[in-house]
Amino acid sequence: MSGIVTPRVALVTGTSSGIGEAVVRHFCSLGHQVLAVDFNPAGQEVAEQAGAAFFQADLTDGEACKAAVSEAVKRFGRVDILVNNAGIQHVSPIEAFPEAKWRQIIDLMLTAPFLLTQAAWPSMRENGWGRIVNIASVHAQVASPGKSAYISAKHGMIGLTKTAALEGGAQGITANAICPAYVKTPLVDNQIADQARLHGMQEQEVIEQIMLKNAAVKRLIEPAEVAELVAYLASDAAGAVTGASWNIDLGWTAQ
Ligand SMILES: NC(=O)c1ccc[n+]([C@@H]2O[C@H](COP(=O)([O-])OP(=O)(O)OC[C@H]3O[C@@H](n4cnc5c(N)ncnc54)[C@H](O)[C@@H]3O)[C@@H](O)[C@H]2O)c1
Repeated sequence: MSGIVTPRVALVTGTSSGIGEAVVRHFCSLGHQVLAVDFNPAGQEVAEQAGAAFFQADLTDGEACKAAVSEAVKRFGRVDILVNNAGIQHVSPIEAFPEAKWRQIIDLMLTAPFLLTQAAWPSMRENGWGRIVNIASVHAQVASPGKSAYISAKHGMIGLTKTAALEGGAQGITANAICPAYVKTPLVDNQIADQARLHGMQEQEVIEQIMLKNAAVKRLIEPAEVAELVAYLASDAAGAVTGASWNIDLGWTAQ
Protein backbone atom coordinates (compact mmCIF):
# COMPACT_ATOMS: atom_id res chain seq x y z
CA MET A 1 0.00 0.00 0.00
CA SER A 2 1.38 3.42 -0.89
CA GLY A 3 0.76 6.92 0.40
CA ILE A 4 0.43 8.39 3.88
CA VAL A 5 -1.59 6.29 6.31
CA THR A 6 -3.68 8.11 8.93
CA PRO A 7 -2.79 6.63 12.35
CA ARG A 8 -5.79 4.86 13.84
CA VAL A 9 -6.70 2.83 16.90
CA ALA A 10 -7.18 -0.84 16.09
CA LEU A 11 -8.45 -3.80 18.10
CA VAL A 12 -7.30 -7.11 16.62
CA THR A 13 -8.32 -10.53 17.98
CA GLY A 14 -6.45 -13.84 17.83
CA THR A 15 -2.99 -12.30 17.79
CA SER A 16 -0.60 -14.79 19.38
CA SER A 17 0.16 -16.44 16.02
CA GLY A 18 -0.73 -16.68 12.34
CA ILE A 19 -2.85 -14.07 10.54
CA GLY A 20 -3.59 -12.04 13.69
CA GLU A 21 0.10 -11.74 14.53
CA ALA A 22 0.84 -10.60 10.96
CA VAL A 23 -1.94 -8.00 11.14
CA VAL A 24 -0.63 -6.63 14.46
CA ARG A 25 2.92 -6.34 13.06
CA HIS A 26 1.71 -4.68 9.86
CA PHE A 27 -0.62 -2.25 11.64
CA CYS A 28 2.16 -1.22 14.05
CA SER A 29 4.51 -0.67 11.11
CA LEU A 30 1.89 1.65 9.57
CA GLY A 31 1.78 3.70 12.79
CA HIS A 32 -1.55 2.47 14.16
CA GLN A 33 -2.08 2.06 17.91
CA VAL A 34 -3.06 -1.56 18.40
CA LEU A 35 -4.73 -3.52 21.18
CA ALA A 36 -3.96 -7.19 20.52
CA VAL A 37 -6.49 -9.53 22.16
CA ASP A 38 -5.94 -13.24 22.73
CA PHE A 39 -6.57 -15.85 25.41
CA ASN A 40 -3.07 -17.25 24.99
CA PRO A 41 -0.54 -15.42 27.22
CA ALA A 42 2.05 -15.91 24.45
CA GLY A 43 0.26 -12.99 22.79
CA GLN A 44 1.92 -10.67 25.32
CA GLU A 45 5.39 -11.15 23.85
CA VAL A 46 4.12 -11.00 20.25
CA ALA A 47 2.40 -7.70 21.03
CA GLU A 48 5.41 -6.22 22.85
CA GLN A 49 7.76 -7.11 19.98
CA ALA A 50 5.45 -5.44 17.47
CA GLY A 51 4.86 -2.36 19.63
CA ALA A 52 1.22 -3.16 20.45
CA ALA A 53 -0.62 -3.37 23.77
CA PHE A 54 -1.98 -6.75 24.87
CA PHE A 55 -5.24 -7.73 26.55
CA GLN A 56 -5.77 -11.33 27.60
CA ALA A 57 -9.34 -12.50 27.04
CA ASP A 58 -11.20 -15.69 26.24
CA LEU A 59 -13.55 -14.37 23.58
CA THR A 60 -16.01 -17.25 23.99
CA ASP A 61 -17.07 -15.22 27.07
CA GLY A 62 -19.34 -12.32 26.11
CA GLU A 63 -18.24 -10.21 29.07
CA ALA A 64 -14.61 -10.61 27.97
CA CYS A 65 -15.53 -9.27 24.50
CA LYS A 66 -17.03 -6.15 26.06
CA ALA A 67 -14.04 -5.80 28.41
CA ALA A 68 -11.63 -5.91 25.44
CA VAL A 69 -13.36 -2.96 23.75
CA SER A 70 -13.51 -1.05 27.07
CA GLU A 71 -9.77 -1.62 27.45
CA ALA A 72 -9.07 -0.15 23.99
CA VAL A 73 -11.20 2.90 24.75
CA LYS A 74 -9.57 3.33 28.19
CA ARG A 75 -6.03 3.10 26.73
CA PHE A 76 -6.39 4.92 23.43
CA GLY A 77 -9.65 6.89 23.72
CA ARG A 78 -11.50 5.18 20.88
CA VAL A 79 -11.73 2.23 18.50
CA ASP A 80 -11.44 3.00 14.77
CA ILE A 81 -10.65 -0.44 13.36
CA LEU A 82 -11.92 -3.83 14.53
CA VAL A 83 -10.38 -6.99 13.06
CA ASN A 84 -12.31 -10.12 14.05
CA ASN A 85 -9.75 -12.85 13.48
CA ALA A 86 -9.66 -15.30 16.44
CA GLY A 87 -10.63 -18.78 15.36
CA ILE A 88 -10.27 -22.50 15.92
CA GLN A 89 -11.07 -25.61 13.92
CA HIS A 90 -12.53 -29.01 14.80
CA VAL A 91 -12.96 -31.75 12.21
CA SER A 92 -15.56 -34.45 12.75
CA PRO A 93 -18.63 -35.66 10.81
CA ILE A 94 -21.96 -34.12 11.90
CA GLU A 95 -23.08 -37.43 13.37
CA ALA A 96 -20.17 -37.43 15.82
CA PHE A 97 -19.62 -33.68 16.23
CA PRO A 98 -19.43 -32.85 19.98
CA GLU A 99 -22.10 -30.32 20.99
CA ALA A 100 -19.63 -28.52 23.27
CA LYS A 101 -17.21 -28.01 20.32
CA TRP A 102 -20.05 -26.71 18.14
CA ARG A 103 -20.99 -24.16 20.82
CA GLN A 104 -17.36 -23.12 21.41
CA ILE A 105 -16.78 -22.50 17.69
CA ILE A 106 -20.02 -20.54 17.23
CA ASP A 107 -19.33 -18.51 20.40
CA LEU A 108 -15.78 -17.64 19.33
CA MET A 109 -16.23 -17.18 15.59
CA LEU A 110 -19.74 -15.73 15.26
CA THR A 111 -21.05 -14.46 18.61
CA ALA A 112 -17.76 -12.78 19.63
CA PRO A 113 -17.47 -10.84 16.33
CA PHE A 114 -21.08 -9.70 16.84
CA LEU A 115 -20.47 -8.60 20.46
CA LEU A 116 -17.18 -6.87 19.59
CA THR A 117 -18.87 -5.06 16.69
CA GLN A 118 -21.72 -4.01 18.97
CA ALA A 119 -19.34 -2.77 21.67
CA ALA A 120 -17.05 -0.88 19.26
CA TRP A 121 -19.93 0.68 17.28
CA PRO A 122 -20.64 3.74 19.53
CA SER A 123 -17.00 4.86 19.30
CA MET A 124 -16.95 4.49 15.50
CA ARG A 125 -20.32 6.26 15.17
CA GLU A 126 -19.25 9.18 17.40
CA ASN A 127 -16.13 9.69 15.24
CA GLY A 128 -18.01 9.18 11.97
CA TRP A 129 -15.34 6.71 10.89
CA GLY A 130 -14.98 2.99 11.40
CA ARG A 131 -13.60 -0.10 9.69
CA ILE A 132 -14.67 -3.63 10.54
CA VAL A 133 -12.67 -6.40 8.88
CA ASN A 134 -13.87 -9.94 9.49
CA ILE A 135 -11.47 -12.78 8.74
CA ALA A 136 -13.87 -15.36 7.31
CA SER A 137 -12.62 -18.14 5.00
CA VAL A 138 -13.03 -19.77 1.64
CA HIS A 139 -15.26 -21.96 3.85
CA ALA A 140 -17.61 -18.97 4.10
CA GLN A 141 -18.27 -19.56 0.36
CA VAL A 142 -18.06 -23.33 -0.05
CA ALA A 143 -18.28 -26.33 2.29
CA SER A 144 -16.09 -29.35 2.94
CA PRO A 145 -17.09 -32.45 4.90
CA GLY A 146 -16.26 -32.64 8.60
CA LYS A 147 -16.18 -28.90 9.31
CA SER A 148 -19.86 -28.14 10.03
CA ALA A 149 -19.37 -25.70 12.93
CA TYR A 150 -16.49 -23.80 11.30
CA ILE A 151 -18.34 -23.53 7.99
CA SER A 152 -21.59 -22.47 9.67
CA ALA A 153 -19.79 -19.80 11.70
CA LYS A 154 -17.93 -18.48 8.65
CA HIS A 155 -21.07 -18.39 6.47
CA GLY A 156 -22.78 -16.54 9.35
CA MET A 157 -19.91 -14.07 9.48
CA ILE A 158 -20.69 -13.03 5.89
CA GLY A 159 -24.27 -12.26 6.96
CA LEU A 160 -23.01 -10.22 9.91
CA THR A 161 -20.60 -8.35 7.61
CA LYS A 162 -23.33 -7.45 5.11
CA THR A 163 -25.73 -6.31 7.85
CA ALA A 164 -23.05 -4.17 9.53
CA ALA A 165 -22.23 -2.65 6.13
CA LEU A 166 -25.86 -1.63 5.56
CA GLU A 167 -26.30 -0.23 9.08
CA GLY A 168 -22.92 1.54 9.08
CA GLY A 169 -23.00 3.13 5.64
CA ALA A 170 -24.58 6.41 6.76
CA GLN A 171 -22.29 6.59 9.81
CA GLY A 172 -18.92 6.31 8.07
CA ILE A 173 -18.51 2.69 9.15
CA THR A 174 -17.57 0.02 6.59
CA ALA A 175 -17.57 -3.75 7.07
CA ASN A 176 -15.87 -6.31 4.85
CA ALA A 177 -14.94 -9.97 5.04
CA ILE A 178 -11.77 -11.65 3.84
CA CYS A 179 -12.04 -15.24 2.64
CA PRO A 180 -8.64 -16.94 2.51
CA ALA A 181 -7.89 -20.47 1.39
CA TYR A 182 -5.09 -22.27 3.28
CA VAL A 183 -2.67 -19.86 4.96
CA LYS A 184 0.63 -21.02 6.43
CA THR A 185 -0.23 -20.77 10.17
CA PRO A 186 -0.30 -23.06 13.23
CA LEU A 187 -4.02 -23.71 12.59
CA VAL A 188 -3.15 -25.23 9.21
CA ASP A 189 0.04 -26.95 10.43
CA ASN A 190 -2.14 -28.90 12.87
CA GLN A 191 -4.57 -29.85 10.10
CA ILE A 192 -1.71 -31.03 7.88
CA ALA A 193 -0.41 -33.28 10.67
CA ASP A 194 -3.94 -34.59 11.45
CA GLN A 195 -4.73 -35.36 7.80
CA ALA A 196 -1.35 -37.04 7.30
CA ARG A 197 -2.07 -39.35 10.23
CA LEU A 198 -5.67 -39.93 9.10
CA HIS A 199 -4.83 -40.81 5.49
CA GLY A 200 -1.41 -42.39 6.09
CA MET A 201 0.19 -39.77 3.81
CA GLN A 202 3.33 -37.63 3.93
CA GLU A 203 2.65 -34.01 4.99
CA GLN A 204 3.77 -32.73 1.57
CA GLU A 205 1.24 -35.07 -0.08
CA VAL A 206 -1.52 -33.66 2.17
CA ILE A 207 -0.62 -30.13 1.06
CA GLU A 208 -0.44 -31.02 -2.64
CA GLN A 209 -3.28 -33.54 -2.95
CA ILE A 210 -5.80 -32.26 -0.39
CA MET A 211 -5.17 -28.61 0.47
CA LEU A 212 -4.15 -27.40 -2.98
CA LYS A 213 -6.49 -29.70 -4.93
CA ASN A 214 -8.80 -26.81 -5.89
CA ALA A 215 -6.09 -24.14 -6.13
CA ALA A 216 -4.95 -22.55 -9.39
CA VAL A 217 -1.89 -21.10 -7.62
CA LYS A 218 -0.21 -24.14 -6.10
CA ARG A 219 1.18 -22.83 -2.82
CA LEU A 220 -0.01 -21.92 0.65
CA ILE A 221 -0.79 -18.24 1.36
CA GLU A 222 1.53 -16.22 3.62
CA PRO A 223 -0.07 -14.49 6.67
CA ALA A 224 1.54 -11.22 5.52
CA GLU A 225 -0.42 -11.41 2.25
CA VAL A 226 -3.67 -11.44 4.23
CA ALA A 227 -2.42 -8.61 6.46
CA GLU A 228 -1.88 -6.40 3.37
CA LEU A 229 -5.51 -6.84 2.36
CA VAL A 230 -6.68 -6.15 5.94
CA ALA A 231 -4.65 -2.91 5.92
CA TYR A 232 -6.23 -1.82 2.62
CA LEU A 233 -9.77 -2.51 3.85
CA ALA A 234 -8.97 -0.61 7.08
CA SER A 235 -7.64 2.43 5.21
CA ASP A 236 -9.18 5.74 4.16
CA ALA A 237 -8.74 4.60 0.56
CA ALA A 238 -11.32 1.84 1.04
CA GLY A 239 -14.15 4.14 2.12
CA ALA A 240 -16.36 3.12 -0.81
CA VAL A 241 -15.77 -0.59 -0.26
CA THR A 242 -18.29 -2.22 2.05
CA GLY A 243 -20.42 -5.32 2.48
CA ALA A 244 -18.04 -7.29 0.29
CA SER A 245 -16.32 -10.65 0.60
CA TRP A 246 -12.71 -10.56 -0.54
CA ASN A 247 -11.43 -13.91 -1.70
CA ILE A 248 -7.71 -14.51 -1.33
CA ASP A 249 -8.04 -18.16 -2.22
CA LEU A 250 -5.46 -19.07 -4.89
CA GLY A 251 -8.31 -19.32 -7.41
CA TRP A 252 -10.21 -22.01 -5.45
CA THR A 253 -13.68 -20.50 -5.96
CA ALA A 254 -13.05 -19.48 -9.58
CA GLN A 255 -14.15 -22.94 -10.73
N1 LIG B 1 -4.90 -20.58 8.26
C1 LIG B 1 -5.80 -20.71 7.31
O1 LIG B 1 -5.61 -21.44 6.35
C2 LIG B 1 -7.07 -19.93 7.36
C3 LIG B 1 -7.87 -19.92 6.21
C4 LIG B 1 -9.06 -19.22 6.23
C5 LIG B 1 -9.44 -18.53 7.37
N2 LIG B 1 -8.65 -18.58 8.47
C6 LIG B 1 -9.11 -17.86 9.66
O2 LIG B 1 -8.13 -16.95 10.07
C7 LIG B 1 -8.25 -16.73 11.47
C8 LIG B 1 -6.88 -16.87 12.12
O3 LIG B 1 -6.43 -18.19 11.95
P1 LIG B 1 -4.90 -18.62 11.87
O4 LIG B 1 -4.78 -19.56 10.76
O5 LIG B 1 -4.03 -17.43 11.94
O6 LIG B 1 -4.82 -19.50 13.21
P2 LIG B 1 -3.93 -19.45 14.51
O7 LIG B 1 -4.26 -20.69 15.26
O8 LIG B 1 -2.52 -19.16 14.17
O9 LIG B 1 -4.51 -18.19 15.26
C9 LIG B 1 -5.75 -18.19 15.91
C10 LIG B 1 -5.64 -17.26 17.11
O10 LIG B 1 -6.89 -17.26 17.82
C11 LIG B 1 -6.60 -17.34 19.20
N3 LIG B 1 -7.75 -17.89 19.94
C12 LIG B 1 -8.22 -19.14 19.87
N4 LIG B 1 -9.24 -19.29 20.74
C13 LIG B 1 -9.41 -18.09 21.36
C14 LIG B 1 -10.30 -17.61 22.37
N5 LIG B 1 -11.21 -18.41 22.93
N6 LIG B 1 -10.21 -16.32 22.77
C15 LIG B 1 -9.26 -15.52 22.23
N7 LIG B 1 -8.38 -15.91 21.27
C16 LIG B 1 -8.46 -17.19 20.85
C17 LIG B 1 -5.39 -18.25 19.28
O11 LIG B 1 -4.71 -18.15 20.52
C18 LIG B 1 -4.56 -17.74 18.12
O12 LIG B 1 -3.77 -16.62 18.47
C19 LIG B 1 -9.28 -17.74 11.99
O13 LIG B 1 -10.54 -17.11 12.15
C20 LIG B 1 -9.35 -18.76 10.87
O14 LIG B 1 -10.59 -19.40 10.80
C21 LIG B 1 -7.47 -19.24 8.50
